[in-house]
Amino acid sequence: MNFIKVESYEKLSMLAANIIADVVINKPNAVLGLATGSSPLGTYARLAEKCKNEGLDFSGCTTVNLDEYVGLDETNDQSYRYFMNKNLFSYINVDINKTFVPNGCASDMASEGEAYDKMIEELGGIDIQLLGIGLDGHIGFNEPDEYFTKETHLVKLDESTIEANSRFFASKDDVPKEAITMGMYSIMQAKKVLLIANGKNKKEILEKAFYGPITPYVPASILQLHKDVTVIYSEN
Ligand code: GLP
Repeated sequence: MNFIKVESYEKLSMLAANIIADVVINKPNAVLGLATGSSPLGTYARLAEKCKNEGLDFSGCTTVNLDEYVGLDETNDQSYRYFMNKNLFSYINVDINKTFVPNGCASDMASEGEAYDKMIEELGGIDIQLLGIGLDGHIGFNEPDEYFTKETHLVKLDESTIEANSRFFASKDDVPKEAITMGMYSIMQAKKVLLIANGKNKKEILEKAFYGPITPYVPASILQLHKDVTVIYSEN
């Protein structure tokens, strides 16, 4: 594992964007695994700049997002599809028809999950998976549990996740209680994993995840078994 500590969120974002840009330059038809949350916002802003000012070309890329809230469609400004359109896709020259986010409004989540995994497999897997980390160690929305779940699946969000994510909603009651998330198989099969985290409150969970035992109670700890993981952390 490559653990890089930087002194600011700006540096984190710049470095993360450079790593993703490198993948895109070397493989113009790369499959990019993308994440939501506040951590990737700076990275997405830098990627948008690179596209606009440096000609970084996303036209051949496909993107697959980690997760989506159940019950929120793309018109809902709290949905992750909306987030991606607003913060990245509208600024880069990716073909919007080649951007995928699990469908949180699917009538059958098991089939939706199966179809999502099949699609990733048919794309040849993910070239680089960007991840944030939740305070409880979740990646995507893979919450602490007795076991790691392989497939894209429906999850019940932990109380602590609902609490943490309530900052984006009008009230805690508005936070969906369920989500659909990519499972550990597609994440672990990604050729490269790039996890970004910032803030003092993430320090403890990063220590547990990357220097503690590998356990499904700290979902991100599974990444210790991945052969190409870069973690970028800024305390600020
Ligand atoms: C959400 C997302 C995760 C994200 C995490 C951390 O719950 N599902 O993919 O990594 O929150 O978010 P933040 O980056 O805002 O701390």
